[in-house]
Amino acid sequence: MCGIVGYLGNKNAFPILLNGLKRLEYRGYDSTGIALIENGKIDVHKKEGKVRELEQITENQSFKSTIGIGHTRWATHGEPNDVNAHPHVSNSGNLAIIHNGIIENYGSLKKDLIQRGYTFESDTDTEVFVNFIEDIKKSENLSLEDALRIALTKVIGAYAIAIISMDTPNKLVAARKGSPLVLGLGKDEFYLASDATPIIEHTNEVIYLKDEEIVVMENGEYHIKDSRDIPQTPYIQTLELELEAIEKGGHDHFMHKEIFEQPISIADCMRGRLNAEKGELTLGGIRNYAKALQNAERIVIIACGTSWHAGLVAEYIFEDLCRIPVEVEYASEFRYRNPVINEGDIVIAISQSGETADTLAAIELAKSKGAIVLGVVNTVGSSISRVSHEGAYLHAGPEIGVASTKAFTAQLTVLFMIALKAAKNKGTIAENRFQQLLRELSLIPSKVEKALQSNDKIEEISDMFKNASNFLYLGRGYNFPVALEGALKLKEISYIHAEGYPAAEMKHGPIALIDENMPVVVIATRDSSYDKIVSNIQEVKARKGVVIAVVTEGDSLIPGMADFTIEVPSTHESLMPLVSVIPLQLLSYHIAVMRGANVDQPRNLAKSVTVE
Ligand code: M6R
Repeated sequence: MCGIVGYLGNKNAFPILLNGLKRLEYRGYDSTGIALIENGKIDVHKKEGKVRELEQITENQSFKSTIGIGHTRWATHGEPNDVNAHPHVSNSGNLAIIHNGIIENYGSLKKDLIQRGYTFESDTDTEVFVNFIEDIKKSENLSLEDALRIALTKVIGAYAIAIISMDTPNKLVAARKGSPLVLGLGKDEFYLASDATPIIEHTNEVIYLKDEEIVVMENGEYHIKDSRDIPQTPYIQTLELELEAIEKGGHDHFMHKEIFEQPISIADCMRGRLNAEKGELTLGGIRNYAKALQNAERIVIIACGTSWHAGLVAEYIFEDLCRIPVEVEYASEFRYRNPVINEGDIVIAISQSGETADTLAAIELAKSKGAIVLGVVNTVGSSISRVSHEGAYLHAGPEIGVASTKAFTAQLTVLFMIALKAAKNKGTIAENRFQQLLRELSLIPSKVEKALQSNDKIEEISDMFKNASNFLYLGRGYNFPVALEGALKLKEISYIHAEGYPAAEMKHGPIALIDENMPVVVIATRDSSYDKIVSNIQEVKARKGVVIAVVTEGDSLIPGMADFTIEVPSTHESLMPLVSVIPLQLLSYHIAVMRGANVDQPRNLAKSVTVE
């Protein structure tokens, strides 16, 4: 949460920073700000609201500075307003800082600083942080980086920060712990950002800074040291990310683009891994732990939100194909219990961003108890990909819309491949079934393409339900997690209350909610529980509920009972979530657009949740 950018070089910093903030706005959009060193002074421009508000208040100004830092905020300490917006400046006006993370002991630091005469304008932990650095710098007469290094040994919490100082107008200093930070290397210039998206239009040479590293950029050179002041040899990566992958490309919203990209993103996930003609499946990323996986006594899946829903589907797949018991845990709950983890247990951590704080903390806990952690992550170079023992990237391309869509289907694809491979290695799947599932998986991109063709019909249905106050989503078996996912999509972007439930559980409570005002989305594709879900639809209809059913192409029974039906192509039931989720993504998208909601940046949310 929060996006940070920095620039030092020979170009005009302001437009670079502003553009970078636009790219990072998905990480937080409560307020925005930029600080430059202009005419020997720290010059700060900040505003509550989105980047365009900052753009408006600065549009008639001309800037010449070649150094600066910028921030887009997701509020933690203090409400979103102009004063709490970053950058924050120290009392003397000498230092300006931007910060993504939380300083947990800011209260005691603040008390101490107040006693020493410091004053504070904002409610933020960050303003305390910058004055704390200033205090150390002044009292010990230190360089900016030395003062920062000492300060960092005394703060508790997570941070990615960048600092500039009026005293040293050609120096940019940054550090990270627990929050991501990427350094882009240009010719005599440096870019900093929370992820690589603001950087790739300038350079594809990047360094993903490690926890507790401090980088100092000055005079066309950079030096990275750890918290003990020991120089580090960085690993420079060449990114393959294309600019068009992070732009809307003619779509009204990123979410729309990402929903419609799925035939390609799913194919990209399988590229180089699955060869249906030859009947081969290769997963190089988990080669070293393949044996450990097939021999595991237990698999624990940890994730949050949509990634957790992908984990629930994976539970069914692994248990069915590999006969290994699986537990799926919310990372945030797992880490605050005293979970039983045995040496050799396999923990699969699923995350689109690879930066989710709860998932990261759960991984550390699992590792400390001897588990082997396999990461299923989309963002290359992200923290989770680095702390996992091994893993498989999704290769779905950047997902910018806050509501996760293509990452979910990519997660299902990768998890299915991992399970299938493990089952083959373990011998729990017959060769002909293995080959059949491989072939079926390879057909999923074209089936998703077909499912997307219901878009117009779904738009019409959306128009009829756009004013509903509640929705119920029901599914059984593999489609139960899809019901949860459909409900999450609707509530997060349209702000309509929605609940996902296993269809058979409805009679144990939620059935009391059903009347003629309750739209019930039932995922009722043809599978082993088809007859049962048909009965559930009848139960809803008997209570005058309005049923929108997602059915398998050619179903002739359910259309006679449901009020609306949306067809999806048939596939094996374990792969059906990849297809049956598509209409639910579209339904939530259209309803949100019709309600005038900000689809890509829903209120109160941020794309990567880097606070606990
Ligand atoms: O980046 P991650 O997959 O770890 O994120 C987990 C959740 O925060 C995320 O899935 C969230 O629930 C999305 N907004 C759902 O659309």
